[in-house]
Amino acid sequence: MPQVQAPPPGFFADTEIVGKEDHLRLHLNENPYGPPPGTVDAVRAEAASYLNRYPDSECGELRGRLAAHFGVTPDMIAVGNGTDELVLVTSMAFLREPGASVVTTATTFPGYVVSAAAVGARAHTVPLRGASIPVDGVVAEMERGAELAFVCNPLNPTGAVLDQAAVTELIDAAERSGTVLVFDEAYMDFAGPAHEFALDAVREGRRVLVTRTFSKAWGLASVRMGFVIGPQDLVQRINTVAGALPFNVNRPAQRAVLRALEQPEHIDRVRADNARARELLCKSLDTLNIEHAPSVANFVMVKVPGEGAAPGDSVGFAARLAAEHRIFVRNLDVLGLPGYLRISVGTVDEVERLATALAALLGHH
Ligand SMILES: Cc1ncc(COP(=O)(O)O)c(C=O)c1O
Repeated sequence: MPQVQAPPPGFFADTEIVGKEDHLRLHLNENPYGPPPGTVDAVRAEAASYLNRYPDSECGELRGRLAAHFGVTPDMIAVGNGTDELVLVTSMAFLREPGASVVTTATTFPGYVVSAAAVGARAHTVPLRGASIPVDGVVAEMERGAELAFVCNPLNPTGAVLDQAAVTELIDAAERSGTVLVFDEAYMDFAGPAHEFALDAVREGRRVLVTRTFSKAWGLASVRMGFVIGPQDLVQRINTVAGALPFNVNRPAQRAVLRALEQPEHIDRVRADNARARELLCKSLDTLNIEHAPSVANFVMVKVPGEGAAPGDSVGFAARLAAEHRIFVRNLDVLGLPGYLRISVGTVDEVERLATALAALLGHH
């Protein structure tokens, strides 16, 4: 059985921005366009009036608005301090028995295995199939008795997305085996509504949970707000554990999200801008002969050029990008993919800055 691995020390280094304002942050899949207009003012007004007051612990208005936005009922929604917290809380809710296990894919968002370790559960990590989610392997582990499954879709770090048949196959298997299946859709807003099969399934009453975040396409990573949508009884179990954190979603965060939700078209704009910049990034990579995986998200996985077919030294390459060009990218050695990098898309200007730096590092003129 693969060992549960926590991200190594330093994995979350370089998240502080102060003192590094001139660095290009292409390592955290942030949104360079920011939140919808008016959101910052809403946060400012909230802070000016009520910084001394506790937030609404039920997040009643927020859950009501999210429910209306997604066409479900408020008791089908739990909110948290980012998806990070919801992954931990969900693990606490469904990995209670001694020997409980979670299945996820190898080489993905580390929060799933870190949370499993935190609650003393076993984690089975199924190797990717190329750049794709290994549906058969995840199904097999569910059938072997995993209590919980996390499937990141679109997949961080490759950018692959599941089709409807694969989503349905996973849900069918989860319902058969009794596994609580969670699709982490942190990047679904970039892929677009044509890929939202899991949410459709929730609306149809299927037994599946979907997590979303305001950190990515909504441009609100700093306020820390994520949510999970699913059947009432599963959401209730999550909310019971979350009850230990009654004020986990702070007032400015609630206000920011309420304001942002008034402008759903923001997501469409961000999706279109990101797609344009991603196309430019992929073209630039092609020009530089850098292999990369197709992506529907706001990041692209690239293979560092090396000798022949073997990938190059991604640790050294990422370090040189940072030191010589002030560009941060995510080196995937730490996620078990040596020789590969995950590069956030950024704006068109940022893609151009990155392409110039890559050309310089590779000795192109
Ligand atoms: C797949 C995935 N899930 C969850 C998160 C965390 O999201 P949040 O900012 O809502 O905690 C990230 C952040 O990068 C992510 O890549």
